[in-house]
Amino acid sequence: MSSVDKPIIRTATEADADGIAGVLTALVASGKRNKPSDAAFALAHYISDPERIRCSVAVDSDGDILGFQSLKLATKNNLYGVAVGWGIIGTHIKPAAARCGVGRELFKSSLQAAQQRGLTAIDATIGAHNSEGLGYYETMGFRDYRRMEGAICKVFRISGA
Ligand SMILES: CC(C)(COP(=O)(O)OP(=O)(O)OC[C@H]1O[C@@H](n2cnc3c(N)ncnc32)[C@H](O)[C@@H]1OP(=O)(O)O)[C@@H](O)C(=O)NCCC(=O)NCCS
Repeated sequence: MSSVDKPIIRTATEADADGIAGVLTALVASGKRNKPSDAAFALAHYISDPERIRCSVAVDSDGDILGFQSLKLATKNNLYGVAVGWGIIGTHIKPAAARCGVGRELFKSSLQAAQQRGLTAIDATIGAHNSEGLGYYETMGFRDYRRMEGAICKVFRISGA
């Protein structure tokens, strides 16, 4: 951990929609994202998504959201074509807080949620040219298992599940 103190990790609530949108907006501004980034999107796709298993936020000592991680259940006809019953993970950290260990802390929370849910595997689908995303998931223990157009899919196998 460098310029960011160890964050507090907690489950997101509806009141975090603006904070999560702030993370997404900062990623858009830095050219790392081109999808919606408003509070309504944050609420619908992460905080209150019916397939949500856990959406964790990382907050600093002022309560500001540094990043978040979404873990959802893959159901029939999921957008990524992930095996039904697996988890689907997504991670978003403010560029100003990147490479400070925030993503590493968030994954502890998501992995705990996956284990509690009895998942056998978690999919991460990452842009093929997103070296930081690929590097992050590789370090967390995800391994390549298939390729899609423009993306690499990595899987984290949960032992004992
Ligand atoms: C990719 C991302 C999630 C990583 O989160 P983070 O909080 O910066 O990661 P951490 O600081 O916890 O890093 C944990 C490990 O991941 C790897 N990692 C993180 N950033 C990396 C980078 N830019 N290049 C290579 N490896 C990287 C490293 O092994 C790192 O450990 P180390 O710093 O001890 O070497 C974050 O940078 C991000 O949100 N990027 C934009 C959105 C995105 O691409 N999301 C992933 C695809 S959904």
